[in-house]
Amino acid sequence: MSQTATHDLEGTVGLLALLADPTRLRLLCLLDGAELSVAELTRITDLPQSRVSTHLGRLRAASLLVEHRVGNSTRLTLDRQQLPAAEAELWNLLHARTDDRLLAADRERRDALVRDREREAGWPDEVAGRMEHSYSPGRTWEATARGLVGLLRLGDVLDVGSGDGVLTTLLAARARSVTCLDRSPRVIEAAAERLGRLPNVQLLEGDMHALPFPAQSFDQVLCFHSLTYADEPARALGEAARVLRPGGDLVLVTLHAHAHSEIAAAYSHVVDGFTLPELRRLCEGAGLHVTCCDITSRERKKPYFEVVTVFAQRPADAEVGKQPPRARPPRERARIPQSPRS
Ligand SMILES: C[S@@+](CC[C@H](N)C(=O)[O-])C[C@H]1O[C@@H](n2cnc3c(N)ncnc32)[C@H](O)[C@@H]1O
Repeated sequence: MSQTATHDLEGTVGLLALLADPTRLRLLCLLDGAELSVAELTRITDLPQSRVSTHLGRLRAASLLVEHRVGNSTRLTLDRQQLPAAEAELWNLLHARTDDRLLAADRERRDALVRDREREAGWPDEVAGRMEHSYSPGRTWEATARGLVGLLRLGDVLDVGSGDGVLTTLLAARARSVTCLDRSPRVIEAAAERLGRLPNVQLLEGDMHALPFPAQSFDQVLCFHSLTYADEPARALGEAARVLRPGGDLVLVTLHAHAHSEIAAAYSHVVDGFTLPELRRLCEGAGLHVTCCDITSRERKKPYFEVVTVFAQRPADAEVGKQPPRARPPRERARIPQSPRS
């Protein structure tokens, strides 16, 4: 599939014309994140099969759909990860901004059909290859995370922007020590209530831009969903790197750059997420060696926020944190343009 980032004039008009059709939009909405055969699409939409096939042919020719065989049938899907870049941007926008009773009814019928299909085929066979997207009782990400924690052997952990200690409830038993640092006294108080008096847990009010610890104090630094609160992300990451021991790990989880300032502002974010190159640059600027920097999940409800995971390590013999990279002006609400995935 081509990964063209832009179209010429004719290409753009062609793409707009392709999408400017209610039936094709209906089909794309149905196929976004679901795999359906022509027969199933016909059943859901109540349209003649020939009409459905004709429209699907056009969408497939424009690389908007991928197909694969399941037993005797061919199923189609719109996989956003595989869309060409310009098409993905346009589709994300259209999908987030379009709502309609007909589309909602389609969705309900589709979900019922998929549930029936799974029941008939047997759940494991039906969802083979995409189990992570399919519900089965009790198999939640929380349950999985709580199990995976058993594999951890942690040293001295600093949780930057810890919130009210929910991560610490998971990690404390697997770590030599956990230090929760948060700017908000109220949040730290709530953490104290939640965590009680765990002997290896310390709770501290403090600012991620000026960590109140000597250099090389921690084996692991976590920064989960707090970097979007940083007035100066480069300084915050410089501080995280400074307090890491050589060979220590930073794990950063944050929003990918987005265009939904009004939603993020309601959660007090001051940065509208980060692009992958920007996060990589920030970590490397702090002297860290980045081993993973990727979009690792995408919310399933609108506006489909994407989440980035970064793993970075302080090299064994590096001098880090001495010169934090250039900072943004304080309180500036960063406007970072959405970048193509890299
Ligand atoms: C979305 S919460 C994340 C909590 C936790 N890390 C989690 O994943 O459950 C962000 C937290 O960062 C804290 N925070 C915001 N700015 C901060 C700063 N400059 N220094 C330290 N903590 C900060 C907020 O008070 C809030 O508790």
